[in-house]
Amino acid sequence: MSQLEHTLSLMVEPFPQGQGQKLSGDCICPPDKSITHRSVMFAALAKGESQILSPLMGADCRSTMGVFRALGATVIESPTLVRVISPGWDDLHSPETPLDFGNSGTTARLLTGIFAASEGLFVTCFGDASLSKRPMGRVVTPLRSIGAQIMGRDNGTLLPMAILGSRLGGAEHVVDKASAQVKSALVLAGLNIAGETVINLPKGGRDHTEKMLMAMGAQIEVTTVEPGIEMIRVRGPFRPKPRCFKVPGDPSSAAFLAVLAAISSGTMSIRAMLDNPTRTGFLTALERFGVAITRSAPLVDPDALEPMIDLTVHGGRTLHAVDLEPELAPSLIDEVPILAVAALFARGKTRFRGLSELRVKESDRLAKTIELLNCAGGHAHAEGDDLIIEGGLTKVKSFQYDPDWDHRLAMAAGVLAKYADGPCVIKDPDCVRVSFPGFFDVLSSLR
Ligand code: S3P
Repeated sequence: MSQLEHTLSLMVEPFPQGQGQKLSGDCICPPDKSITHRSVMFAALAKGESQILSPLMGADCRSTMGVFRALGATVIESPTLVRVISPGWDDLHSPETPLDFGNSGTTARLLTGIFAASEGLFVTCFGDASLSKRPMGRVVTPLRSIGAQIMGRDNGTLLPMAILGSRLGGAEHVVDKASAQVKSALVLAGLNIAGETVINLPKGGRDHTEKMLMAMGAQIEVTTVEPGIEMIRVRGPFRPKPRCFKVPGDPSSAAFLAVLAAISSGTMSIRAMLDNPTRTGFLTALERFGVAITRSAPLVDPDALEPMIDLTVHGGRTLHAVDLEPELAPSLIDEVPILAVAALFARGKTRFRGLSELRVKESDRLAKTIELLNCAGGHAHAEGDDLIIEGGLTKVKSFQYDPDWDHRLAMAAGVLAKYADGPCVIKDPDCVRVSFPGFFDVLSSLR
């Protein structure tokens, strides 16, 4: 763990010359969290040895690794490679003790789908204080409708839960939000259901589960049935085969570096970032703010199941406020706190539309983003599910901020603190280890 993060609160010193800072950097951004989770899961469902190259060794992905260890897979970690040696989906065993999902919504929701469909497996599971507040009914309700046996607090809408894996039935589900975690839980359950599982849901959520599984040979078909609605058909049963998974860089982590460059007068190059339109809405948003971004040709790697790119973000331009439509929200939902920081420096009033899901992330991120901007001297508020930010802030006041143990808020506060008129204090900086271990070291090393 980084020295800077191993403290109860961290003092962040601003850049010496404030906002006009000429920043320049060249970063390999941390590996993608969503793809590392899925690589570990697919490796553990495959019988034999799989290797995950350049995995994210953040706390969330380690929660997923820990779960599969408890179920009988051998998971050997090193900083650049994880080896998973598994008995295969049908021979995972019921763990003796409760499973700890930590802070990780992806672990909790995707594994609920896998476990509910694993006949005979019995697990109990819990999460940390933040995860224990997050809605589980969105996966439990559709899984119960096809025969899943799940008990949990508040009638199964919250962790802790107990799951007795059962033989589930094929069905057609209608999901009312563009949630990748809900869609993935149903797709993963569908892999162990004989016959067809069909999921209809609003388009736009990240599609790694479908893409990766299709590349691994699963019978999955994705079509657009009506504008804005996608239909996913899964034909089970399917057993993944062991393989090598190369994890691309994480756009959600790259976004912090990109915004740092965008509000400075320098440039930042980011190497080998995942190039998937369901994840790169923040680049669209930054370009609409007026930021210049250059992209390389797609990078080819036979072990990567999705393409990657190098990009360079050029700062030093005047940013202009934007009005971002709700359809864009799923592709930038995790980046809203840091894009909101960029909006403070843009001329005019920015509006992010359709952010209801932001209220049920690791914290109430809508409220906590507003709190961050306002404690730094900005003017931000919510109108229904929209976030409105007055731009043109000329002076960032030094501030103290409690991110409520939410990694993305702590990092957004770190970036904003670099432009403050004095040192700022961020509580529990350790929480960044969920997705970007060493973030504050990277931040303090930028010149
Ligand atoms: C994730 C999906 C998104 C995202 C989360 C990771 C995933 O959540 O916000 O950080 O790995 O599938 P929803 O599925 O709730 O939209």
